[in-house]
Amino acid sequence: MVVFLANPKISKDLGLVRDGFLPVTIRETGVSDFEKLAKYYFEFYGELKENPQLGLTLFDNKPGMLDEMGWFISFQKACETGDALGLVAIESEEIVGFCEVDRRKPTSAVSHRGGLGITVKKGYRGKGIGTMLLKGMIEMCRKRGLEVLELEVFVGNEHAKRLYQRLGFKRYGLHPQAVKRNGTYIGEELMFLKL
Ligand SMILES: CC(C)(COP(=O)(O)OP(=O)(O)OC[C@H]1O[C@@H](n2cnc3c(N)ncnc32)[C@H](O)[C@@H]1OP(=O)(O)O)[C@@H](O)C(=O)NCCC(=O)NCCS
Repeated sequence: MVVFLANPKISKDLGLVRDGFLPVTIRETGVSDFEKLAKYYFEFYGELKENPQLGLTLFDNKPGMLDEMGWFISFQKACETGDALGLVAIESEEIVGFCEVDRRKPTSAVSHRGGLGITVKKGYRGKGIGTMLLKGMIEMCRKRGLEVLELEVFVGNEHAKRLYQRLGFKRYGLHPQAVKRNGTYIGEELMFLKL
C-alpha cells in the first residue's frame, strides 16, 4: 500500500511547495471506497454542465448506481490481479482526487502498457494533489512491472499538460477529432511516459 501523508516535510520531498497546504492522504483504493468514489465521480457531471471546456469525457447520461457498481467491481477485480491500479487522495474522510491505470489487454503483447486517468475535485486543484497522485502512481506502476504509461489530454487543458510534462510525459501525437462535444470537435494530445 502506498501512503504519503502530505505533511510539509513530505510535500517538500515531493517538490510540492504550495500555499494553502492541506493534510491529504494518498492511498490505494479499496472495496470500502465504492460509495465515496461514486459520489466523487458523479460530481463531474454537474461540473461539466457548468464548464463545457472540462477536460474529461463522461457518458452522455449520468450512469446509475448499479452501472457504477458494475464498473467498480470489475475495477477492483482487475486491481487484485494486477491489471489495474488505483490511488485516492483523501481529505477530511472525503475523496478529493483519484488516479487509475488500466493495463492494456492483460496477457498480450501490449500488456506492458497502461492507460492513465487522473482527476482532482474542483476547489482542490492547483495545490499539488494531482502531482502527489501521479508521482505515487508512477512509482506503483514501476513496482508492478509496467513499462509504459499513456494518456490522452484535451489540447487546451494547460494545467494537466503542464503536470504531465513536469513528470516526464512526452507528446507523441495529436488526434484532431478525438472528442465531439455539442457538435464541436476537440483535439487530444497523446502522451506517454517510459517507466
Ligand atoms: C489535471 C488535474 C488532475 C491536476 O491536478 P492538480 O491537483 O490541480 O495538479 P497540481 O496542483 O499538482 O499541478 C497542476 C499545475 O497547474 C497549476 N494550476 C494553477 N492553478 C490551477 C487550477 N486552478 N487548477 C489546476 N491547476 C492549476 C499548478 O500550479 C500546477 O502547475 P505547475 O506544474 O506549473 O506547478 C486537475 O486539475 C483536474 O482534475 N482537472 C480537471 C480534470 C482533468 O482535466 N483531468 C485530466 C484529464 S487528462
